Amino acid sequence: MSTTRQEEIWAMVKGVNAVTNNVGKSLNLYRQWAPNFDQDNADIQYNGPKFTAQTIDELFGENKDALILDAGAGTGLVGEELQNLGFTNLVALDGSQEMLDVANQKGVYKSSVCSFLGPDRLDIDSRQYDCVVCVGTMAAGHANASCLPELIRITKSGGYVVIAMREIHIPDCGYDGKSWDDWLKIHEDNGLWKKIEIRNVENWLSGVYVGVNHYYGPKFTAQKIDELFGENKDVLILDAGAGTGLVGKELQNLGFTNLEALDGSQDMLDVANQKGIYKRSICSLLGPNRLDIDPGQYDCVVCAGTMAADHANAGCLPELIRITKSGGYVVIATREALIPDCGYDGKSWDDWLKIHEDNGLWKKVEIRRVENWLAGFYVGVINVYRVI
Ligand SMILES: C[S@@+](CC[C@H](N)C(=O)[O-])C[C@H]1O[C@@H](n2cnc3c(N)ncnc32)[C@H](O)[C@@H]1O
Repeated sequence: MSTTRQEEIWAMVKGVNAVTNNVGKSLNLYRQWAPNFDQDNADIQYNGPKFTAQTIDELFGENKDALILDAGAGTGLVGEELQNLGFTNLVALDGSQEMLDVANQKGVYKSSVCSFLGPDRLDIDSRQYDCVVCVGTMAAGHANASCLPELIRITKSGGYVVIAMREIHIPDCGYDGKSWDDWLKIHEDNGLWKKIEIRNVENWLSGVYVGVNHYYGPKFTAQKIDELFGENKDVLILDAGAGTGLVGKELQNLGFTNLEALDGSQDMLDVANQKGIYKRSICSLLGPNRLDIDPGQYDCVVCAGTMAADHANAGCLPELIRITKSGGYVVIATREALIPDCGYDGKSWDDWLKIHEDNGLWKKVEIRRVENWLAGFYVGVINVYRVI
């Protein structure tokens, strides 16, 4: 697939989910997207339908006759996955007739209904379905928590409501002054449903950034450092886990001149060194081992994308602190989903942040969550600590 095509798909994904969209606008975009929706979503490896169908399979086991409403069925990707798993009793609902027209050609659903998911009553009798599933239907300009009472009403007592969505849309799915999470709890407190599981899944959309540089982590991290140092562009900064120099490049663009790189891979550093960004580069592993660097050298040590499973973890924090000047900053930016893999020696990442603070080694300045870390699909976290 060409980069241009991938950019176009990405633009369409962003377009239908634009926070400013009202449902009319996004349904209009789905009308245009319907003929290409399946191919485009295959190209960006949209795994949501498969993951959700697997969850339903876990819930129903051998009961393949369960009556399932696919609410926001679109072109029927969820129905296809359910059919592949043996489910036979499927009904589709969507606000876009054009999307349903594509779904109907697949022979997956016994019937389909063009209807709008919102606070209004659906033309469906109560307690009809063993399961109501929504995949990708909750988002800005799509459906939101206002439709939950209706989804619950049409589900049999003992049946399941399975709602799968991209994590970044959750803040846009509240209703009537209350958040998405508030509504999940309100309906539980009111005895309408009971939470079985909230499962985080990686790789919801796994292919969108292939060949396209939508990795915004370095830029966001450099901007944070710029906020910390303002006009003082001469500060000595170590880019720890510098890789090919993406963070250094962003810092250089912002006027920083005094940059050094450290990375465990000489091959990555070789690429970085060709860019003329860093005054010095050090090939060294970040871990509990002592670095060959004197204490209190740097005004700032930055790590972006370096903390992850099989990368560095909290075991290297004491060294990062040791080589930073008193009053300097350690800025560690990582994808939020990777944090659970960054603990060390039986303690979590968050435990270690706090342990070093309790031990008077550093003081938290900010922990900032940022959207669009990678390809618009991941949330990043920038941890800023001031060394004491
Ligand atoms: C991202 S697509 C997902 C389609 C399908 N579930 C899938 O995972 O491939 C979102 C679908 O939700 C539908 N939709 C969005 N808001 C809706 C609403 N308020 N009521 C009914 N359908 C809606 C759109 O028409 C579109 O087909």
